Amino acid sequence: MESIWSQYPLRKRSELQGDLETEIAVIGAGMAGILTAYLLQKAGHRVVVLEAARIAGGQTRNTTAKITAQHGLIYQKLTAEQGTEEARLYAEASSEAVQAYRRVVEEKNIDCDFEEQSAYVYGNHVSALKAEAEAARKLGLPASFTEHVPLPVSAAGAVRFSGQAQFHPLKFIGALAEELEIYENTPVRTVEDTLLQTDHGAVQAKHIVFACHYPFVNFPGMYFARMHQERSYVLALEHAADVHGMWIGAEKNGYSFRHYGNLLLLGGEGHRTGESSRGGRYAALERKAQEWFPESRVVARWSAQDCITPDSIPYIGRYADTRPNWYVATGFQKWGMTGSMVSAQLLRDLICGAENPYVSLFDPGRFDLSMVDGVMAEGGQAVKGLARRLFRLPEETAREIPAGHGGIVVLDGEKVGVYKEENGTLHTVDIRCPHLGCQLEWNPDEKSWDCPCHGSRFDFRGKLISGPAQEDISHG
Ligand code: FES
Repeated sequence: MESIWSQYPLRKRSELQGDLETEIAVIGAGMAGILTAYLLQKAGHRVVVLEAARIAGGQTRNTTAKITAQHGLIYQKLTAEQGTEEARLYAEASSEAVQAYRRVVEEKNIDCDFEEQSAYVYGNHVSALKAEAEAARKLGLPASFTEHVPLPVSAAGAVRFSGQAQFHPLKFIGALAEELEIYENTPVRTVEDTLLQTDHGAVQAKHIVFACHYPFVNFPGMYFARMHQERSYVLALEHAADVHGMWIGAEKNGYSFRHYGNLLLLGGEGHRTGESSRGGRYAALERKAQEWFPESRVVARWSAQDCITPDSIPYIGRYADTRPNWYVATGFQKWGMTGSMVSAQLLRDLICGAENPYVSLFDPGRFDLSMVDGVMAEGGQAVKGLARRLFRLPEETAREIPAGHGGIVVLDGEKVGVYKEENGTLHTVDIRCPHLGCQLEWNPDEKSWDCPCHGSRFDFRGKLISGPAQEDISHG
């Protein structure tokens, strides 16, 4: 279940052993963290990157790697909800991010299969597509409406953005990482003021950037109350027809298409994290692949996870009013590559004290605190009756669980997570999420325990896959 990008070898780095002092510490060596570190170092600062696992080990290796200012039908929505000026700023920031990737690739002569492409959002509601094309065009974007959709899906037309791009994300990040001081397998356990604590050393830093997908410090900031996560699935197909561009569906449950070399990347079957206990996502995608590209063959499959904000605008800027030296980059929706570059430029400017026109648009401080009560109550309700302990299933219950299956069983009045491997080995886990206590749900496609509240994930042995949780769950 590894992406096609994962096969690209990235040089391993050592973990942090001992204390150090730096000007800027970046938490997370994904695209946002590496770009931020790269731009800050280029601006003359000393930067250290602390990565919990491997460079590009999270969503950067699961992306479809489209670099585009086209983010679904966002420009109509932003114009209507935020006003023309805010929509124009969003368009400018996103377009500038596309150009910035091009510049970095050219300046550093990075061999990363960077390729100019048109981006399309296809759909059946012609009036909405035409309105989006018009809204985007008015904001200065290279947008037009077309009826030509060379996809095997039902579509009456598409909005086309010319001059966008696609690339190989690990080849790109690998080249930038060569110049940076990065410590792998170095999870940051706590952050207090200017001090970051890891397992084998502390880092003192004047500025701290959280570029770790989902910010894990709950207070201050309370990102858990204003962001959720969504999963989607990707197949790499050989012998599938060329789709001539990067495509995404406008309607909910639409599909995504792009080529990489002789492979077609087909994405879709998305859902909120923790809400797919019936599974079958890869199977559904494979049925679509068979229907649309009967000659094709699946050569890889993987899934990705995105942070979603209520207003569809990322949180980029100061982490919280009370922590002026902390910064955050998160909530990129499905546009992680573009959001990463917008973040890197904006955070560089904030830290360097330079003007940046997009500070207010992406300000994480735009947020209504009244939302928090409901979220806390939801989490509290989910843990009612759960206790943290190790579980042993009685013989007869264990025998009833088919091999290769998992789910929640009730044992002595308590809910327990259970998974039986194909070889019969049984795994039981505590299904209370260590982040804020919501009940985890089984994901049969990934054989993982996923949290519906804020999207933390754990493997069937209870080992943490991704946060905001920072610890494993108990495994029996
Ligand atoms: Fe927040 Fe699970 S309770 S991720």
